[in-house]
Amino acid sequence: MKANYKNWVPKGMTVGFGVASALLAATAVGVGILGTTEKSVIKTTATAVLGIGAVGCGAFSAWCAYAGNKFSYDGKRKLSKQIVEGTAEYVSIPDGGIGLDVGCGSGALTIACAKRNPKATMIGIDRWGKEYASFSKKLCEENAIAEKVTNTRFQNGNAIQLDFPDETFDAVTSNYVYHNIIGKNKQELLRETLRVLKKGGTFAIHDIMSKSRYGDMQKFVSELKAEGYEEVKLIDTTNGKFMSRKEAKTMFLDGSALLVGRK
Ligand SMILES: C[S@@+](CC[C@H](N)C(=O)[O-])C[C@H]1O[C@@H](n2cnc3c(N)ncnc32)[C@H](O)[C@@H]1O
Repeated sequence: MKANYKNWVPKGMTVGFGVASALLAATAVGVGILGTTEKSVIKTTATAVLGIGAVGCGAFSAWCAYAGNKFSYDGKRKLSKQIVEGTAEYVSIPDGGIGLDVGCGSGALTIACAKRNPKATMIGIDRWGKEYASFSKKLCEENAIAEKVTNTRFQNGNAIQLDFPDETFDAVTSNYVYHNIIGKNKQELLRETLRVLKKGGTFAIHDIMSKSRYGDMQKFVSELKAEGYEEVKLIDTTNGKFMSRKEAKTMFLDGSALLVGRK
């Protein structure tokens, strides 16, 4: 059995928008051609709105297919795999220690960290909501079995308020999670993850850390250093490290960066 990490762009989204585009286009044609022969403002407006909707849905469906193919673990580019494995490289856990992966999805990063730290345990938490319906605790557990990894555990949890006391973990990691959490201050979300990290523990957090989403991250780095964090680095991952600038732009991943270091 092979692990199935699914796709950050679900197939259902590509197909759904494709179908919506076709339906809207057909309705636009129906209203425009087959409707009453007499021209009216309502008819023209309806045809135009339906046509624009069809083009919008079609374009989004085409983008989903393009992005899904780039991310796919089975495709040629394997961008998700590169990002997950590249992030896991920064996660170092002492033997017997415990690491946390926040927003583990299908378990890819949790399992990659568990493989790199075979004498430690990795816990993956996620809220497994409707927006990523193909991800689940069961899928994570099946993937761990498929990868022959026995040092992982998966449980429900929310990145906004982690259900763990301060300084529980020897390492914390996360990939492309916080930008999904609408209406929350992203630096506060980082703080919540770092809260559960032990002094001396490593962290590797990858996300779209653009200024509009995260605010001033250089200032955040300086604040952590001033608080006594041993090492803090913000690494641009769109300069060829994980993806090219062009890929970042076309995939709407501009601003992707890794916050790594030691508390
Ligand atoms: C793009 S996926 C990334 C999954 C995984 N980190 C990976 O690298 O494959 C985003 C994940 O964040 C999770 N997520 C979003 N908001 C969350 C929250 N408030 N608490 C926990 N998980 C959350 C989603 O359920 C989804 O699994």
